[in-house]
Amino acid sequence: MSQPKYTYETYPFPSPTLLSSPPPNFSLLVHKYASVRLEALLTSPSAFGSTHEIENAFTTAEWERRVWREGFVVLVCVAKPVCDSGVVELNTITSNNLGHLEGDWVGIATLLGPISKASYGLPPESGGPEIGSDEEETRWHMTGLYTSPEHRRKGLAKMIINSAMAYARNRTLHSSSPSGKQQNVRLRIMIRPDNIDVVSLYAALGFVDAGRCTGVEAFKANGDETLIERRMNSPGMRPEMMVVRIGLVMERLESLVVEAI
Ligand SMILES: CC(C)(COP(=O)(O)OP(=O)(O)OC[C@H]1O[C@@H](n2cnc3c(N)ncnc32)[C@H](O)[C@@H]1OP(=O)(O)O)[C@@H](O)C(=O)NCCC(=O)NCCS
Repeated sequence: MSQPKYTYETYPFPSPTLLSSPPPNFSLLVHKYASVRLEALLTSPSAFGSTHEIENAFTTAEWERRVWREGFVVLVCVAKPVCDSGVVELNTITSNNLGHLEGDWVGIATLLGPISKASYGLPPESGGPEIGSDEEETRWHMTGLYTSPEHRRKGLAKMIINSAMAYARNRTLHSSSPSGKQQNVRLRIMIRPDNIDVVSLYAALGFVDAGRCTGVEAFKANGDETLIERRMNSPGMRPEMMVVRIGLVMERLESLVVEAI
């Protein structure tokens, strides 16, 4: 039998920005997200600040708090197998209108924003560029990008990053800015500089060098401040490494003109 082919789409996980309360099948969705995140930490331990050991110990409530957070949206890339007769029926997620999330979750990332200038800024020694005022731009930060090994090199990471940018752009366009006004959208990531493949992936999508950060700054920017102590105390960790300024910051800045309605 030949291997199934897939269609791929990226969707936002239910979040406080999109829904007034978690959907009825929230626990199932959170469980599904946790499986992919733990797979990411297990298979790519050097790519992330956190560890499998730390997150594998999360309680259900901790997982829920990580995905249902004001100002956070998890993006999920869903693979649906296709056979000769069309898309296979999947019934893993029932009830309400979240059927688009049915399928294999083969990629994830978390997007934070919009972030105020005061919360976004890094110290001058980071060497980053000047950033605009809160009136001139919206600011976003992306973390935890991962795609499953068996679905790599098919453009999924690019799709997820472009979806994050589209989400940020849409939210910016629908914000209350006066029409005809120019507005910038700034999207940032923090990565290990030796993760060359990832650096070239972001560079190909228009991200440029925007300075250097410490591990502590990256944890805070990623919304993982509560994990810093656990990381400092995890086996094999030298706490001084968290304060060395070696993380690569990359940003993409896009200009929009808010259309007249
Ligand atoms: C990095 C990662 C997200 C890329 O996912 P992907 O779905 O394979 O990426 P794409 O197919 O969209 O690749 C986009 C581009 O990235 C670059 N790239 C990705 N993986 C690469 C690899 N193994 N070797 C060289 N270049 C690579 C290439 O330029 C590629 O474009 P191309 O296929 O046209 O040459 C995935 O390998 C992964 O999850 N790695 C482990 C976790 C990680 O490092 N996450 C990033 C943390 S910041």
